[in-house]
Amino acid sequence: MALQVVQELQDKKILCVGLVCLDVVVFCKSYPEEDTDQRCLAHRWQQGGNAANNCTVLKQLGVSCEYLGTMSTDYGGLFLKKCFIDSHIDINNCVYYEETECPMSCVLINSQNGSRTILHSNNNLPELSCEEFKKINLKEYNWIHFEGRNVAEVCKMIQHIENWNENHPTDKIFVSVELEKAKTPLRELLDKADFVFIEKDFVKLFDIERMETAVRELSQMARQGSILICPWGDLGACACDIDGKLVLSPAYPPLKLVDTLGAGDTFVAACIMGLRNGQSVEEAVTLGCKLAGAKCGLEGYSSLA
Ligand code: ADP
Ligand code: FRU
Repeated sequence: MALQVVQELQDKKILCVGLVCLDVVVFCKSYPEEDTDQRCLAHRWQQGGNAANNCTVLKQLGVSCEYLGTMSTDYGGLFLKKCFIDSHIDINNCVYYEETECPMSCVLINSQNGSRTILHSNNNLPELSCEEFKKINLKEYNWIHFEGRNVAEVCKMIQHIENWNENHPTDKIFVSVELEKAKTPLRELLDKADFVFIEKDFVKLFDIERMETAVRELSQMARQGSILICPWGDLGACACDIDGKLVLSPAYPPLKLVDTLGAGDTFVAACIMGLRNGQSVEEAVTLGCKLAGAKCGLEGYSSLA
């Protein structure tokens, strides 16, 4: 019986809703000065965007997952579609916009310390609407993760899932959100999910300087019973457990910091996998820090598992 339950759990997918974009990643010898001309060590095109990165990591960990978002059909969009297909990530419900350009980031990686500097731009690709979200079959998922953006529509999407949960008490879908940017409207998502990832820049909105304080204080604004998780770069991560107790994990730095782009997305994906598989909050946060630390020692996301 227990085996059957585990099997049913694994049969359903994790859905990640948010951005996919083109990352043009350049590895610099050192961080450049303004208005200078530097020959770099290497560059590459890579799929990026938090929700897409979450899927890339989940898939590497052997988790069945799907990406949902909008995509362009220009050259960059086709590249991103091929990346999804090559990594066997389901994109069956994505919405395509012709005559738009794919969003892109120029990313400088400083090879001296692995730091990543991101310049992001979206010329004209629209965000996913709740009407489009409602077309998916919620029966296929037991966890839906939202990147914190497009707040008004995401609130409606979460309400749609809550309505489903009320009518399907044995088929509950867990909801998580990631609040990353220092943007005031994101505060509205603090009390909308079972699991809330609060990141450093978002926490700055509240003039908070420590992850423990962030978890303790922002928990007051979250929904009762929800779990707040706060990654904090090389200090590791902190969370509140189901009984309100603070749990901490140290960071697990690699031998050499090579590429920290997407460390946060790796952390979030690993935590979601752990929690969905029944790990305690402390175990999941520790797993997140271990995988995110390993990622910082690697270029891109390959060979994580
Ligand atoms: P991002 O800036 O990509 O959102 P964070 O800085 O929030 O990522 O870090 C996410 C997680 O990645 C941290 O909780 C930590 O486990 C790991 N991490 C990030 N930077 C380092 C580092 N320099 N050394 C070790 N682990 C790191
Ligand atoms: C990393 C990332 C990049 C992307 C940027 C968008 O977390 O998703 O892949 O360029 O953030 O904000």
